[in-house]
Amino acid sequence: MSEWIGVFLIVLAGFAVAALLYWLLVESEGVYLGQRVVTWLYDRYAGRYEDIKRFVPQLEHQHLAQPLMQEIAPNRAPNILDVATGTGRMPLALLRHAGFSGHVTGTDLSMRMLAIACAKTDSPRVDFVCAPAERLPFPDNTYAVVTCLEALEFMADSRAALSEMARVLKPDGVLLTTNRLTTRWMPGRGWSPGQMQEILESVGFTKVEFERWQVDYDKVWARKA
Ligand SMILES: C[S@@+](CC[C@H](N)C(=O)[O-])C[C@H]1O[C@@H](n2cnc3c(N)ncnc32)[C@H](O)[C@@H]1O
Repeated sequence: MSEWIGVFLIVLAGFAVAALLYWLLVESEGVYLGQRVVTWLYDRYAGRYEDIKRFVPQLEHQHLAQPLMQEIAPNRAPNILDVATGTGRMPLALLRHAGFSGHVTGTDLSMRMLAIACAKTDSPRVDFVCAPAERLPFPDNTYAVVTCLEALEFMADSRAALSEMARVLKPDGVLLTTNRLTTRWMPGRGWSPGQMQEILESVGFTKVEFERWQVDYDKVWARKA
């Protein structure tokens, strides 16, 4: 009898360890295990990222490129920085926008995500740099626009990253970022709109506005003060 109890306990412990690993590596995408694990996971899944996300070019235009170009009108040739660009979603949406004639730099820590971004956006108006969002390798007051989509919650220090975004933006430059709404499986990785506004203002942004977008994310607009 005690043998069966032993087997039962071992099986139970096995399930508990498997569930914990699933949560740490899949549900929360490595965020509680440190930046290296997050980057390793994105490297590992880079080839499948777009199959999972299923971006629709028309919706990317309607919800990202078009409102951004409207926000900075009449500037049709801005220099834009897309932080944590992944597979180049934002650069691609901008390149496809007929009214955009500026330049986009995408940064990320995952070399494999960047390799896919490079392959998809073969244009002299786009370049990619492997760099952490928390230490952007660009001078102060450089960009007219900084974007950072669906990424703050994965960063080791998202507040430092927002502060860096403010630093590299020109005065009155535009920030377009996102706030994750569904953090049931990622406790402590999302902010209420009030908290996010407070953080943005504390690092140098003003005119913070939230816009409903997807089930998982609000778009967040701000200007460098
Ligand atoms: C969910 S993907 C979003 C990618 C892209 N912005 C999009 O909307 O498709 C998150 C990205 O953030 C990147 N990332 C996570 N932490 C980072 C950091 N500290 N610095 C730079 N990139 C980071 C990951 O490598 C990954 O490519």
